[in-house]
Amino acid sequence: MRTRLALEGQTSVLVPRLDPNASYPPSSAAVFYNPRMELSRDISVACIQALDNNQRDNRRLTYLDALAGCGIRGLRVANEAQVEVTVNDYNLAAYELIKRNARRFQQNVHVEHRDANALMSEARFNVIDVDPFGSPAPFVDAACRSASKMLCVTATDTAPLSGAHFSAGVRRYSALPMNTEYHAETGIRILIGTIIRELVKYDKSATPVLAHATEHYYRAYLLLDRSAELANACVRSMGFIAHCFTCGHRYGLPGLFPTLRPDCAICGAKLAVAGPLWLGTLHDQKFCRQVLENIETGVFGTKRRAAKIVTLCLNELDTVTFFDYHKLLRELKCPPVPIETLVSGLRTVGCRASRTHFSGTSIKTDADADTLKRVLLDLSCESEKARLNRR
Ligand SMILES: C[S@@+](CC[C@H](N)C(=O)[O-])C[C@H]1O[C@@H](n2cnc3c(N)ncnc32)[C@H](O)[C@@H]1O
Ligand SMILES: [Zn+2]
Repeated sequence: MRTRLALEGQTSVLVPRLDPNASYPPSSAAVFYNPRMELSRDISVACIQALDNNQRDNRRLTYLDALAGCGIRGLRVANEAQVEVTVNDYNLAAYELIKRNARRFQQNVHVEHRDANALMSEARFNVIDVDPFGSPAPFVDAACRSASKMLCVTATDTAPLSGAHFSAGVRRYSALPMNTEYHAETGIRILIGTIIRELVKYDKSATPVLAHATEHYYRAYLLLDRSAELANACVRSMGFIAHCFTCGHRYGLPGLFPTLRPDCAICGAKLAVAGPLWLGTLHDQKFCRQVLENIETGVFGTKRRAAKIVTLCLNELDTVTFFDYHKLLRELKCPPVPIETLVSGLRTVGCRASRTHFSGTSIKTDADADTLKRVLLDLSCESEKARLNRR
């Protein structure tokens, strides 16, 4: 296999040379490598550095890159977050390349050539990173048993999680996905909910500290604790989302076995439902601030984009859904207003509102669908009048 030296962050790693003409270049070599995931790896490194600052009790953290490919993610964590790293892949060519790469590091990097589930069933790690092809579902149970402080999980099977491939979503996550304008958020909440349902079996709890939907993948970071009481609290933050496709009304319904009223309280149409899923917060402000500081002060190739995502997450309102206001504008047949005008207009009438990292044309608000439409209509009329007056 032909390789080249790739520099990401402060770490250079041998990666396979990809065939740019292949239908999917990251899979064109014997070892998987996707240069486009540098953004995800940059944020991961900043998160582990944040854990380093917050969670360490003067002991070296152990970290497993369970599905490592060429090892770039785990090796960067070893080099840039000074963590004791194990890098694992069951593909022999990947294992050989990781070994070559690991020799180039001063730090103690362990390399394994194991099935990830077998390794996680036998050994315990403080932090586990599960970054698979497609769905993380086959690795969640073993990862939940093994990890003690943090889980970092990627899902690239966004179609099943977001309701576009409904049956696959139900099969993999034992949950009903739903294809709405906020499907990415529902998808991440189903992913986190699946992880939490596995964790609580072992009297472990989780606090999601950062979760983002970017390009073709979802990524979630969860801090873990071992406590039956906290696990019970986690279960209380599980639930469903009820959605009315007629008027846009939606709400979170707490509980794993709630009673759902079948009809929309606003317009009487039949409600659709998604879940079980995580209804709690997706981001922890203190953690995200530390991650942002790490990104801004560190050496990261995707610094600007990574900082933008984390800043949006940091300032995101903790509602369980969001509204695409361009969709509302089309529905109301009214001219656009800047998104910041809508956010401040909602705040003026006493509602909470923020932008969201999920979509540049969407907002999070505790206003109900009717209030939102009314505010949008008023603002749109005002701005149209002002525009005509200027003529
Ligand atoms: C998406 S790639 C990993 C990319 C890598 N984390 C990165 O950031 O570049 C998934 C890897 O998981 C490995 N893999 C898949 N199933 C596995 C299993 N059961 N045990 C160990 N490795 C596995 C594949 O060989 C592949 O290299
Ligand atoms: Zn309705």
